[in-house]
Amino acid sequence: MQPFANRECVTRVLEGAILGNMFFEPSTRTRVSFGCAWNLLGGEVRETAEIKTSAIAKGESFYDTARVLSGYSDVIVMRHQTEGSVEEFASASRVPVINGGDGSNEHPSQALLDLYTIRKEVSDLGKGVDNLRIALIGDLRFGRAVHSLCRLLSLYDSVHFTLVSPPELSLGEEYVKAIQEAGHEVVESTDLHDGISHADILYVTRTQEERFPNQKEAEKYKGLFRLNQSIYTEYCEPNTVIMHPLPRDSRGNANELDNDLNENPNLAIFRQTDNGVLIRMALFSLILDVADNIQESAKDVGWYTAKRF
Ligand code: CP
Repeated sequence: MQPFANRECVTRVLEGAILGNMFFEPSTRTRVSFGCAWNLLGGEVRETAEIKTSAIAKGESFYDTARVLSGYSDVIVMRHQTEGSVEEFASASRVPVINGGDGSNEHPSQALLDLYTIRKEVSDLGKGVDNLRIALIGDLRFGRAVHSLCRLLSLYDSVHFTLVSPPELSLGEEYVKAIQEAGHEVVESTDLHDGISHADILYVTRTQEERFPNQKEAEKYKGLFRLNQSIYTEYCEPNTVIMHPLPRDSRGNANELDNDLNENPNLAIFRQTDNGVLIRMALFSLILDVADNIQESAKDVGWYTAKRF
């Protein structure tokens, strides 16, 4: 998918197909990259953003909404604040539904792009995902990207997980148990410096303030773990890769991933976001069974294209 995402060539394999992009919670990356991925395969996107612009605001059920919208779309991507909402919606849909994030539960396409990024980053260092040492840092209780990534990494061998969080925001027991039962080592810590010192990957997360009962409660946890260049230089091994699902909270009281890391070549956060387009193109092409037709329909682009990858 890379030549297409990099605008070296175009394909129209999904010409005439329609994506229903339904984001009932704020999103920049997931919503726009799913839309771009669909467009890059030649399809059209219909957006529903915010509950207030949908008849769900008038009391319409997920069942009815799914029955209706699946008559208008070939695939639906959905994000909603409630855990299990996408599964409920999908059970009534007549077309495939991709989970774009359901509350604090799961964010599976983020995990796929994170895994793809990890594989690329560590392979440049002569390593693989087996035996990986990853430190997951921040709000591990509500961070859905962390939940899905843990599930995916558990499919590999001998991954060492260091979980760095305040006790109140620790990773749920069911996730820890699943990781351990898959044969991996888990170490829990409340000390950032200790937690990051022997990791191949640092996966930093934001305090998910939208999941807290009120702002005051969320404020207690913001800024507890801040990674910046001087901490990285002092405590991390050379070439430790820094990841974050984004958005990072760059406000002064949070700032879990400092802007002074922006020029650090091991900061992979914008390689992650770029990879989101490729991964989502691949998902669509597999779901709609066009993967084998893409290359034969490829044409060179006729406009100036900036180097992206
Ligand atoms: N990573 C992620 O889900 O970002 P958005 O909320 O911007 O989609």
